[in-house]
Amino acid sequence: MKYIDEEQLRELVSREIFKLGKRSKIKSVEGFTNHLISTGHNAQEISMAALKRNPSLEGEIDSDRAATAGRLHDLGKALYSSGDRGHDVLGAYWILTQGGASGIVSDATPEQVRSTLGKLALAVASDFSLAEELGVREGFPQRTYPLPEDFDKKVDYIREFLSVKGNPLPIERLVYPDTDERKIIVCADLTNLSGKKTFVRERLDEVVARYERWGKTSETQEERDYFSYIAEITKHPGFRDRIFKVVKKVEGLTGMELL
Ligand SMILES: [Fe+2]
Repeated sequence: MKYIDEEQLRELVSREIFKLGKRSKIKSVEGFTNHLISTGHNAQEISMAALKRNPSLEGEIDSDRAATAGRLHDLGKALYSSGDRGHDVLGAYWILTQGGASGIVSDATPEQVRSTLGKLALAVASDFSLAEELGVREGFPQRTYPLPEDFDKKVDYIREFLSVKGNPLPIERLVYPDTDERKIIVCADLTNLSGKKTFVRERLDEVVARYERWGKTSETQEERDYFSYIAEITKHPGFRDRIFKVVKKVEGLTGMELL
C-alpha cells in the first residue's frame, strides 16, 4: 500500500487553497503545510517508539499510516472556506469521499483502500472540542458560532461509513481517540509547536493565548466567536483532564515524556 508523500501533500494543499482563493482562511500556506508535515514526522516517531517497546501492537499501530494521518490531521482547514470551524469533520468527510481519487492511499485492493481511508478519517476526526461542538458533553460552555453548512449531514455520512454491525458509529467513538494509533496522532499534534518539539501543557497554553488573540482580531464575528469559544474550552480543567489521560497512555506505551 502506498500513502500520499510529503511532495504530493504540498501539491494537494496548494491546489486546494488556490481553488478557494480569497475565501481561504489559511494565513501562511508554507507554515500550514510545515505543521502537517512535522506532525506526520512526530506521529511516525512516536509510533515507532511504541512498537519498539510493545511489538505485540504491530497489528494495531502502523507507523506509515500514523504518519499519513499526522500529515492530514488539519487538512480540513485548507479545503473549505470555514477554515478552522469544523475542520476535523470536514477533513474526515473529504478523506472518505475524495481521498481515494486524490491518491491519499493507492496500490491496494478497493477493500483495503476503503478500510484505510476509514482509519485515516477517524484519526483526523479525533478532536476533543468536537464533543462540545456536537453537544455530547454537558456542563461545558455553549457554542455561540454556527457550524459550517451541511455539518450534521457530513457527521451522519462519516458515522454511516464507519458503521458497526449495521449501526452508525457512536458519536463518542467518532470524537474521542479510542485506539492507541489515534491517541498517538493526538500527541503528535500537541507536542508540535511550529515544527519544534514541545510539551503538551505548553502547547495548550500557546493555543489558548493565540486563540484569545484571534478571538479579538479575526475579521468576522463567526471567527471571533469560534476562537474565543475554543480558547475557553481549552482552559477548562475537565477538558484538559481528558487530554492528559490520552497523553499519559502514550507516555506509558513509549517511555517518552510528553506532558
Ligand atoms: Fe494541528
